[in-house]
Amino acid sequence: MKLAILGSGFISRFYADSLVAQRRKDTIVSVYSRSEVNAKKFAEDYHVPHYTTSIKECVEHKDVDAVIIGLSNDLHLESILACAAAGKHVLCTKPLGRNAEEAWQMLQAVEKANVVGGYLEDLCYTPKFLKSLASIKSGAIGEVIWAKSRETHPGPHSDWFWDKAKSGGGAMVDLGCHCIEISRNFIGKNIRPVEVMCWADTRVHPIDAEDNAIGLVKYENGAIGQFEVSWSFRGGMDLRDEVMGTEGTIWLNNFLRTGFEMFTSGKGGDYIAEKAESNTGWLFPVGDEVNELGYNHMFTDMFDAIDKKREPAETFYDGYIVNAIIDAAYTSAKTKKWEPVQIKDWRGKFEAKANKQYTDFDENFYLIKEEVLPSGEKKIIIKNKKTGSIEIR
Ligand SMILES: NC(=O)c1ccc[n+]([C@@H]2O[C@H](COP(=O)([O-])OP(=O)(O)OC[C@H]3O[C@@H](n4cnc5c(N)ncnc54)[C@H](O)[C@@H]3O)[C@@H](O)[C@H]2O)c1
Repeated sequence: MKLAILGSGFISRFYADSLVAQRRKDTIVSVYSRSEVNAKKFAEDYHVPHYTTSIKECVEHKDVDAVIIGLSNDLHLESILACAAAGKHVLCTKPLGRNAEEAWQMLQAVEKANVVGGYLEDLCYTPKFLKSLASIKSGAIGEVIWAKSRETHPGPHSDWFWDKAKSGGGAMVDLGCHCIEISRNFIGKNIRPVEVMCWADTRVHPIDAEDNAIGLVKYENGAIGQFEVSWSFRGGMDLRDEVMGTEGTIWLNNFLRTGFEMFTSGKGGDYIAEKAESNTGWLFPVGDEVNELGYNHMFTDMFDAIDKKREPAETFYDGYIVNAIIDAAYTSAKTKKWEPVQIKDWRGKFEAKANKQYTDFDENFYLIKEEVLPSGEKKIIIKNKKTGSIEIR
């Protein structure tokens, strides 16, 4: 695959690290940055033969098969429209739009142009996530009834994130998009998200957008997706997920405690991990950030999808649904009520029901709970199927 990258900032460099460091057959052939100095530096660092300060020139470059977008949120729509017009496959970073209306226009554009629209939701490609999802799909934890995802850190690294007009919002649109899509995968992407209840507030920074938020997303089958996001969390970047199923549980700690702990007096290297706030004392480095954040698996899926003319695991449609959920969350934060998720074109299941299967104790009773107490006594709690009375055996 011959690739163009729009942007030369933080995420574009992460993407390039994944593409170049792993000796892929895929190569970056053109890079765009509004700053010629940055475009040239990026091109030198990653051995890219062509650089430009024109989005159009980069996208239309004759060798380019697919375009990767790593620009600020306000530039996603314009860039995607340019890719669709040029008939190029397009892979866009998260969040897809600043709101669902923008994401909808992007989805329409790629579908009309018949090009692949891949949603670069890396946290749905981490090795731990992929293994968890496979276990859930094989039935290892039964039916998922609650999936919680948390992303909190001390706040982003560039001016535009903090400007609501450019970013579309605060921690919720920036970090909530990851959490929502993680929970959505665990609960089942074909289950319709129906309504959202959200608290959001600006607690610490002098900005218009929220720097802290918690939300509940209710799915049609009764499952709950919970997101917790913050731009004021101190101590690094906390990425954790918890999934509760009828037959089991999954806990994931993706970043702050990966099993790698190090103490240093401060001599030596500076960089520890994304958003780490300290480089002395006890530290929690991440072995291979590019891999542990999912970038390698994500690009493999995206390029395979383009080659094989199939959909990637994360598509523009997913990005649109995530934006629709976030829009409902913003409305709920204002009204303090459950707010419906407005979806123009639902492509999943209709009327998904909870899969309630009670365990029989015998033909007359359901088993509610069985437990051995410290005394060794075994308690069995049962419910009479006819009368509804609860009894103990
Ligand atoms: N895990 C992830 O998937 C992840 C992580 C970080 C950022 N992101 C996303 O990547 C995108 C970029 O974020 P970043 O962290 O790289 O930010 P950044 O500020 O480091 O880079 C932004 C890029 O956009 C360019 N840009 C900004 N304003 C511009 C303008 N007006 N005209 C032309 N170019 C402009 C900058 O020059 C730079 O190349 C955002 O959508 C962000 O949400 C995704």
